Amino acid sequence: MGAYRSAYERSIADPTGFWRDAAAEIDWSRRPERILDDSEPPFYRWFPDGELNTCHNALDRHVAAGRGEQPALIHDSPVTGTVRSYSYAELLDATARFAGALRRLGVGPGDRVLLYLAMVPEAVIAMLACARIGAVHSVVFGGFAAHELAVRVDDARPKVVVATSCGIEVDRIVPYQPILAAALEEAEHVPEHCVIVQRPQHPAELTPGRDLTWDQALDGAEPADCVPVAATDPLYILYTSGTTGRPKGVVRDNGGHAVALGWSMRNVFGVGPGEVFWAASDVGWVVGHSYIVYAPLLAGATTVLYEGKPVGTPDAGAFWRVIAEHRVAALFTAPTAIRAIRRQDPEGELIDGYDLSSLRTLFLAGERLDPDTWTWAGERLKVPVVDNWWQTETGWPVAANPRGLEPLPLKPGSPSVPVPGYDIRVVDGRGEEVPAGTDGSIVIRLPLPPGCLPTLWNDDERYLRSYLSAFPGCYLTGDGGRFDADGYLYVMGRTDDVINVAGHRLSTGAMEEVLAGHPAVAECAVIGVADALKGQVPSGYVVLKSGAEVDPDALAGELVALVRQRIGPVAAFRRVTVVPALPKTRSGKILRRTMRGLVEGRDEPVPATIDDPSTLATFRELGAAEA
Ligand code: COA
Ligand code: AMP
Repeated sequence: MGAYRSAYERSIADPTGFWRDAAAEIDWSRRPERILDDSEPPFYRWFPDGELNTCHNALDRHVAAGRGEQPALIHDSPVTGTVRSYSYAELLDATARFAGALRRLGVGPGDRVLLYLAMVPEAVIAMLACARIGAVHSVVFGGFAAHELAVRVDDARPKVVVATSCGIEVDRIVPYQPILAAALEEAEHVPEHCVIVQRPQHPAELTPGRDLTWDQALDGAEPADCVPVAATDPLYILYTSGTTGRPKGVVRDNGGHAVALGWSMRNVFGVGPGEVFWAASDVGWVVGHSYIVYAPLLAGATTVLYEGKPVGTPDAGAFWRVIAEHRVAALFTAPTAIRAIRRQDPEGELIDGYDLSSLRTLFLAGERLDPDTWTWAGERLKVPVVDNWWQTETGWPVAANPRGLEPLPLKPGSPSVPVPGYDIRVVDGRGEEVPAGTDGSIVIRLPLPPGCLPTLWNDDERYLRSYLSAFPGCYLTGDGGRFDADGYLYVMGRTDDVINVAGHRLSTGAMEEVLAGHPAVAECAVIGVADALKGQVPSGYVVLKSGAEVDPDALAGELVALVRQRIGPVAAFRRVTVVPALPKTRSGKILRRTMRGLVEGRDEPVPATIDDPSTLATFRELGAAEA
């Protein structure tokens, strides 16, 4: 039996033995005696009596082991024209000092700190500083607008907010202060302090008494030591899009997270101490949390924090430059990034200008990897291109090709096989497993392995309702797909109202709430339609209130601006069509899947429950026009 198969089978048959062994790779201030608390199903807790500190495992122990001089973090920022490297000793020093600054501001174990930061080293330092003193960070992606920030402030109720004065989008300065000010105006919760990282490109005006600059916060602060926390204590909350406008606060605990991420770095990504790992994502997404910050540092590797884009900073060779300059062993990004590069450099000619001999593997995730992009990247880069499928909720790959454990054959269109720890099943609507080759809902048998969400922040009930109630004993991933006869998984897309735009997870429900708020709109639907670059883009359809006298183009412009203002530019919401009616079932449910099929030009089967088939004509025409 191969290494993968035996590890996988052991992880399912003897999860406590499997994860007890993996836990030995982590430093504990109190080693867990108990591995899994399964006394209150469907809630499960890993390492319930263990104690550790995640920051100690990411920094201190590597310095103690003699890695102090090794680069821990390389900030490569084409948008500011700077590259700065921090050794493990330097990153530890900066983190301990900022941890001390937070403590002086009154932040203690269990308190929340909200981080709204561009891709600057202070983002990593602030996350690790929270972990160091047992505080809980909640990072909000910079592309979200004030309202989204306000919703997160009210849910997480942070004592302190840490923000950059601005972000830089290629050559456009995005001042964060007006967004933060509007969010704090809208939110009911009032944080005690805001710490602002002043950037020379656009310094922010401070509110006296409440705000202080990063440097002021540090001035005279005593470095803080690591505080041991329970393995089950929360490390962070990361909000992600659900099917409604209210985001879900995914909770990550300390112990399971450290064990699982450390294990994944070695066994899935095949990257070890001293190697350079680059996740070209953003710290505001789960990929950034897990594979820019925590996993590479837990593994003693060097991580690259890239403040730039795949194209335009300055060209489609940017990724190849970073790989060559920092001797990157493995790159992790989203398929969209590769499609954007390919669009500008179809033959990959810019690749030839760089020495990519350090690169062993390209990992792609965040959205479906189309076989065309897979083939292009593999042929041009001449390294294995490894699709991996997971979600904010799981925090680390659910299906992947385990490069460190045992590289398996790759198949285009498939993220390969279930990762050890995940008992994946494909089921029909009644929860019965379907045979290989048949599509169904992808679920994971409980308990989920360490590192996955134990619950939603302050909302056990929503956790149960969203994930655990559809198929008792199983976690509902929200994705549909199938296994093939070799046990390879094919993930075909979401079965709910979540869409993936350029690898960014968004809720069509949240966009619908914005459109429905316009006085001229009677009804609306937003669906994700296929897009050659971004995978999917949102497309809105609105029905006017009777008697509403508006110019459809002007209305469309207003609605686009409203979504941008309310949700943020990251929604990439640009298409609105005024339609006479929406197709619905007789009970009034909007037939979004049917609409999507027709708009994408497919001959979609029309449900027998449709109320008025004539409503489909507009969507057929839109599909024909698109084709
Ligand atoms: N702060 C402020 N605005 C942001 C932002 C941030 N952190 N991130 C994105 N935006 C803005 C963009 O500037 C853009 O604004 P615009 O409408 O004024 O042009 C808008 O949000 C949409 O962004 P995006 O969908 O990313 O489109 P783009 O055209 O700017 O870039 C790609 C396209 C493909 C280059 C880009 O999407 C990309 O790099 N994708 C990689 C995906 C990725 O890293 N995913 C993370 C999960 S692994
Ligand atoms: P997020 O929580 O932002 O990481 O988004 C998770 C969702 O992205 C999943 O539920 C999938 O719909 C999609 N996704 C992520 N990775 C893949 C992949 N490799 N293949 C197909 N879909 C993916």
